[in-house]
Amino acid sequence: SMLVRSSASAKQAVNRRSFSSGSVPERKVAILGAAGGIGQPLALLMKLNPLVSSLSLYDIANTPGVAADVGHINTRSDVAGYMGDDNLAKALEGADLVIIPAGVPRKPGMTRDDLFNINAGIVKNLCTAIAKYCPHALINMISNPVNSTVPIAAEIFKKAGMYDEKKLFGVTTLDVVRAKTFYAGKANVPVAEVNVPVIGGHAGVTILPLFSQASPQANLSSDVLTALTKRTQDGGTEVVEAKAGKGSATLSMAYAGALFADACLKGLNGVPDVVECSYVQSTITELPFFASKVRLGKNGVEEVLDLGPLSDYEKEGLEALKPELKSSIEKGVKFANQ
Ligand code: NAD
Ligand code: LMR
Repeated sequence: SMLVRSSASAKQAVNRRSFSSGSVPERKVAILGAAGGIGQPLALLMKLNPLVSSLSLYDIANTPGVAADVGHINTRSDVAGYMGDDNLAKALEGADLVIIPAGVPRKPGMTRDDLFNINAGIVKNLCTAIAKYCPHALINMISNPVNSTVPIAAEIFKKAGMYDEKKLFGVTTLDVVRAKTFYAGKANVPVAEVNVPVIGGHAGVTILPLFSQASPQANLSSDVLTALTKRTQDGGTEVVEAKAGKGSATLSMAYAGALFADACLKGLNGVPDVVECSYVQSTITELPFFASKVRLGKNGVEEVLDLGPLSDYEKEGLEALKPELKSSIEKGVKFANQ
């Protein structure tokens, strides 16, 4: 195990704190799984984020190189790489936000639930450490199956006596990113102006884009809307198949993860009206965890927003996703308590 601190000596770090950040608060962001396919480009994007003052890169291997590399970029944050379990505490201490893309990705033919056996244990261990070393941090869970890893995290935090449901987020931003891209293509509108909420969970039919609420509005046929819905639901599989055994989405996920982390940091910093979709503890439906629009604030979730009006097709999709999402939640809860 080793520790690499790059780009700034302790003294330089102190100087930066006192001179250059102005009214932007100090924020430590930790990435767990930082040397992986998602972790590396996500580390790059978080290094480019001026809201970050300290970037902590943790993995079981290869973080010294990633930290040395990213640390040479002349942006605000300090960068430190931490490798191995012995250094996890240091990686986490003082973190305001912990992003977790640690774990194995899918290969063609697998479902996200096929990752459960390996990733559930990884998430359990990491969350046990988070409860100990940075119990007040916001958590952005990327590791799959998200529908189960978020409930696992909640149970682990409950056992540690520090669960705060406002601080735990399953990252479903990639579903929103995909829905926007695919919708813009069919609706023939500028993609930068598009907004589409995506609700439910993050696997197959549990991913439910609400194209009836998309903006700008477009008059798309029900066939086109069905195809757009299916493509959004199968977006991850599309990438898994195209990569043909070399993993799943990493670059688009890093983009989506950076976008969601930025929204969380803005919320922490008191920026008003920051709204993103996320899979959180919820009373919007009868399911204990559900993805929907969430307003982010100084304590994490400020408000879980209503689903708004759904088309008949979306209402059917909502009922159809509930059994699978329910069983994925129960599987996570059971694992954490066994
Ligand atoms: P990857 O194999 O390229 O990287 C995973 C990294 O996790 C590796 O560097 C590995 O060393 C590290 N790791 C393993 N065990 C660890 C531990 N105990 N502590 C810290 N790090 C550990 O995989 P990837 O492509 O980066 O995907 C990572 C995860 O993200 C997968 O579970 C994948 O399914 C998921 N994912 C989620 C979304 C989403 O939308 N939420 C999108 C894409 C991928
Ligand atoms: C995705 O949506 O791309 C991720 O969940 C990875 C996967 O396995 O599809």
